[in-house]
Amino acid sequence: ESKDIDYVAEIKRLKKEKNAVILAHYYQEPAIQDLADYVGDSLGLSYKAAETDADVIVFAGVHFMAETAKILNPTKKVILPDLNAGCSLADSCSAEDLATFKKKYPDHIVITYVNTSAEVKAISDLCCTSSNAKKIVDSVPLDQPIIFAPDRNLGAWIQKVTGRDMVLWDGACIVHEAFSMDKLLAVHKEHPKAKIIAHPESEAHLLKIAEYVGSTSGLINYVKENPANEFIVATEVGILHEMQKEVPNKILIPAPAKENNTCACSECAYMKMNTLQKLYSCMKHELPEVHVDEAIQKKALLPIQRMLEIS
Ligand code: 13P
Ligand code: SF4
Repeated sequence: ESKDIDYVAEIKRLKKEKNAVILAHYYQEPAIQDLADYVGDSLGLSYKAAETDADVIVFAGVHFMAETAKILNPTKKVILPDLNAGCSLADSCSAEDLATFKKKYPDHIVITYVNTSAEVKAISDLCCTSSNAKKIVDSVPLDQPIIFAPDRNLGAWIQKVTGRDMVLWDGACIVHEAFSMDKLLAVHKEHPKAKIIAHPESEAHLLKIAEYVGSTSGLINYVKENPANEFIVATEVGILHEMQKEVPNKILIPAPAKENNTCACSECAYMKMNTLQKLYSCMKHELPEVHVDEAIQKKALLPIQRMLEIS
């Protein structure tokens, strides 16, 4: 594509022309968030996808999010700027491996985090996101044992807040495991009044010192409502764009990452595969499109619908 294209203007024009809706996650680059019709966390994005009357859903996020939108809207066209925008959590849990794992625990029901493939959802009983995980787990009768997959950190945190004993899958998010505790404590020493807040995909030792643990929208709401003026934010750095808009006068410090990380803070390389140019090109050509096998879609819809009903 030519360098002379005004991507912002063209994306706005294509959105109208094609009756498309752009749904973006908080981890997308700021320019993409600013063009979106809705920016939200995984749960909010699922609700928006479920209720949209647009003809084309343009998903500015990662593959499992676009796939969830497609499962909810099988007759609509769902496009994603880059099909390779994956997720280390979704990659950690194949449907084959989960099926084998389930056989070891035949009495357990399976709750999977929404960060999974359609095939994994198709063999799950319930879905959850980080904002409703507690509610979903609490909805299960106490005598019913649970397998929780694939995020071991979110799972361990939910075990702590619900008091439930669950069988955890051993997956993790590469972004939320990249924070350096030493550097974080050093930053906190320089800003002793700052409140540490974290996404539950972070490791237990970080969650232990966090004043608040929550989903991306939970973190934004906390910063808005809490009277403190300074926050150290342990999640993907893209969230700071929307957060700073909400609290223009507060100081927001991204939690520092370990030495060998690609950036000083934590960036999700998958989320950042989407660019303005790719967004424009995908809207122009209505490609690449996200497809889900019909039989899988029907089965994967059930745990998502149950989740949307409970939360
Ligand atoms: P949220 O549901 O909190 O937006 O989290 C999604 C995600 O991928 C976190 O890494
Ligand atoms: Fe997946 Fe982590 Fe990226 Fe979220 S931040 S999309 S969990 S790899």
